[in-house]
Amino acid sequence: MPISNRIWWQPRAWALALLLLSAGAVQAQNAGARAACEKSFKPSTGQPGKDVVWVPTNDPLVIRMLEMAKVGKTDLVYDLGAGDGKIAIAAAKQFGARAIGVEYNPDMAQLAQCLVRADGVADKVKIVQGDIFETDFSSASVVTLYLLPELNLKLRPTILKMKPGTRVVSHSFLMEEWRPDESSVSTDGAAYLWIVPADAAGKWSFKQQRGDDSFDVDLQQTFQKLTGTVGQEEITNAELKGTHIELMFSEGDVHTRLKGEIKGKQIEAEVFRNDKTSTYIGTRQ
Ligand SMILES: C[S@@+](CC[C@H](N)C(=O)[O-])C[C@H]1O[C@@H](n2cnc3c(N)ncnc32)[C@H](O)[C@@H]1O
Repeated sequence: MPISNRIWWQPRAWALALLLLSAGAVQAQNAGARAACEKSFKPSTGQPGKDVVWVPTNDPLVIRMLEMAKVGKTDLVYDLGAGDGKIAIAAAKQFGARAIGVEYNPDMAQLAQCLVRADGVADKVKIVQGDIFETDFSSASVVTLYLLPELNLKLRPTILKMKPGTRVVSHSFLMEEWRPDESSVSTDGAAYLWIVPADAAGKWSFKQQRGDDSFDVDLQQTFQKLTGTVGQEEITNAELKGTHIELMFSEGDVHTRLKGEIKGKQIEAEVFRNDKTSTYIGTRQ
């Protein structure tokens, strides 16, 4: 018997063939269900919206945005101005997250909800018809935006009050002097990522946990940018990503490198100083 014929008799080859056939059938069923959704309302690119028109983010950029935000199973993604729900659907389907899309246009919101069901992710995705400026999205761990620069700016104060570490990804548009933590620009378009910074500003007294060393750091903060001093010396290489803080300073021959986590009024830090690493607790003065 030729090899190709023999392969067909193997149970694994049959299982694979059945799997491919059923995957094809599911895809066809999905496509059918999606087409049925568009029978009630077929949107057109550029149609007016309350504050901005509908233009869908292209598929590769949707994936890149969600990858930049490192979306995973434990996330709750809010897409503000959800359109046909494609970002919320992808967050659930490709990344296993829960997602909520907020869309003002009732026809669009209904279509998005229908597409959620057609794609079989209704257990993870909800589409809410409403105004993004009147919706409480403070429970989100990830926020996605494809709006306009002025709408991003209008949302900025609310976003900055969210839990430190919340990731925000915007298609195309920036947030003025709050510079993104990461940018990704390609032929698919531009995507920008911000990580909501913790409040780090102020005077911090650091004390070694098992020892009697101590030092004071005075920090100034503009969004995620930190500057500051230790006595007369400037801190260098300062970085703030959500609650994670890193900085360095030198006093004469003593070089100090600090990596810590801001937990409200305290910073728990591993500090490399005097040739050894040990734990310090920083307390806001
Ligand atoms: C540029 S589209 C983006 C759609 C989707 N997020 C995407 O990236 O494919 C913006 C969407 O926001 C909706 N929209 C405009 N103003 C809104 C508002 N105040 N509240 C909720 N949705 C709004 C529009 O109807 C439109 O569907």
